[in-house]
Amino acid sequence: MAVNASDIPDMSTLEAIGSRRSYRYYDPTRTVEDWKIDTMLNAARFSSCQGNINCTEAIVVTKDSDLWDEIEECVSGFNVQIINQSSHLIFWLTNLNAWYGRANDGLSTLALSGALTKYHGWNYEFTMTQTVPRLMSFPTTLTEPMLRFETGQHVGASIIAGQALGVGSILIAFGRKPGGINKAFDLPPNYRFTWGHAVGYPLEDMAAGGQRVRLKFDKLFSNQTQGNPRQMADGLEDALKVKGLIQEQAPNSGRFEELDALAAQFSRDSGVVSWPEKDIRRLLNDDDWDFGPNIKARAEAVLAAGDLPDYPEEMVETFEKLMKEHGIDTSKYLA
Ligand SMILES: Cc1cc2nc3c(=O)[nH]c(=O)nc-3n(C[C@H](O)[C@H](O)[C@H](O)COP(=O)(O)O)c2cc1C
Repeated sequence: MAVNASDIPDMSTLEAIGSRRSYRYYDPTRTVEDWKIDTMLNAARFSSCQGNINCTEAIVVTKDSDLWDEIEECVSGFNVQIINQSSHLIFWLTNLNAWYGRANDGLSTLALSGALTKYHGWNYEFTMTQTVPRLMSFPTTLTEPMLRFETGQHVGASIIAGQALGVGSILIAFGRKPGGINKAFDLPPNYRFTWGHAVGYPLEDMAAGGQRVRLKFDKLFSNQTQGNPRQMADGLEDALKVKGLIQEQAPNSGRFEELDALAAQFSRDSGVVSWPEKDIRRLLNDDDWDFGPNIKARAEAVLAAGDLPDYPEEMVETFEKLMKEHGIDTSKYLA
């Protein structure tokens, strides 16, 4: 049946962004409608891309694919259950040849669209004799990270579009078999497999236990100079709560019961992973994190319940080495 505009819900962009979670439990009996997958792909297609070169492509795969077993062998172990419950997998690809082969036409489409104008100094002669030749001389070591960044933001748009339609997403690592996905799809050498994305109807509540804690706003964002904390506009935090961009922080009430019920439903081990007592206490006092009451109460409950693991001594050596290599202060992990 053809899709009508009236089939498409009207969630606000801010609410879709605020509602997004990485869903890890999907209903294996439900298939996401093609039009919703295609809406997500369209959200990617209309994301910004340099010179309108359209370097981001995707392959949509379902479990009836002949390649499923090969794909499953490539996915990291902690993602196997997720992909098998999901409805679709989207393999996001970055086509490096788009940079070299499509810049001329891409820029021409922008000129025809009324996007490239003389106002900003664009000039055909200069573009063709200077700009394009210079851009085309970039090695793939330079274009690859630029284009994969672009693919990343296309993927982000598709996830938000899915969320607005009630479709859950999670990005998943395919690190078990390096190069395995390129081989499975027999990708030409100019294609990079940038990321895997599982899609489905979540079995967990759409809040998935609540919004995950992040670092504080002013620890991440600066004004004028790096490290000069930017303060959020007056009243904004409360206003964004009303609009759904900022939501109740995880874990909300009932989350751990929900997780246990999901584990029981699929005969999986129940329970969550915990860190050592000392680490949890240190983290609770870390002023960088935006800890609200739910997560603080959970941490206190975990501490009170006890039976927490010990810090493996091997980690001291790993952290010492890592931190030396990256020049950061690791003492908090070593004490
Ligand atoms: C590039 C990328 C790769 C990710 N890979 C995985 C993964 O392989 N498995 C997984 O369970 N979560 C994965 N995640 C999800 C993150 O762990 C998740 O974003 C984080 O827990 C924060 O939660 P939220 O997305 O619900 O806000 C990935 C996220 C990103 C951005």
